[in-house]
Amino acid sequence: MTEIGYLVGSLSQASINRRLAMALCRVAPAGVVLRELRIDDLPLYNPDHDGSFAPAARRLKDDLASVDAVVVLTPEYNRSLPPVLKNAVDYASRPWGENTWQDRPVAIAGVGLNGAGTAVAQAHLRAVLGACGAHVLGGPELCLAWTDDLVDDDGCPAPAAAPRLRAFLDAVVAHAERHGAVPSGAWPLSS
Ligand SMILES: Cc1cc2nc3c(=O)[nH]c(=O)nc-3n(C[C@H](O)[C@H](O)[C@H](O)COP(=O)(O)O)c2cc1C
Repeated sequence: MTEIGYLVGSLSQASINRRLAMALCRVAPAGVVLRELRIDDLPLYNPDHDGSFAPAARRLKDDLASVDAVVVLTPEYNRSLPPVLKNAVDYASRPWGENTWQDRPVAIAGVGLNGAGTAVAQAHLRAVLGACGAHVLGGPELCLAWTDDLVDDDGCPAPAAAPRLRAFLDAVVAHAERHGAVPSGAWPLSS
């Protein structure tokens, strides 16, 4: 069994990136389980509280450490990743010496309203996670442009999109197998 945790970088009830996550759940092969790792209840990160992390932040770090791989679905906000997602990434990188991203297999996906399909946000997120020491899957990329029939209300992907989603998940599983057994990590950069 491979367990993939996913983060959705949107607080919107109507999030198209959550719809994409639902579609990934639908196409998961046998033996692969996806579950959402909540980030919507995190307070804003403040290093003054590193000695007493909020329960939601501790839960996020525990959740990230408990799965075989992480998929991060990012919307694009002003040509970058949304603050709710950056906040979660920063929390998981701390406290000092307890960087949960270190050596963790991670993949990035996203859907936007135009043809670029979150490509710039994904590039920024890739740089951030790389700086945090994660193993970020290089490809296949999953940068999609939203159309009303891409994913229905029940999370079923359009037949034309399903093979691409499945190929992405297959690559995530292979990536997890290559980079499994994450050691407890230390922050890779100087303070
Ligand atoms: C503050 C803000 C900035 C945005 N900037 C971009 C952008 O730079 N590029 C883009 O393609 N879409 C941009 N959008 C549109 C979002 O991609 C769109 O709202 C999308 O539905 C967000 O994903 P979600 O539905 O999963 O929350 C922006 C939206 C907001 C609210």
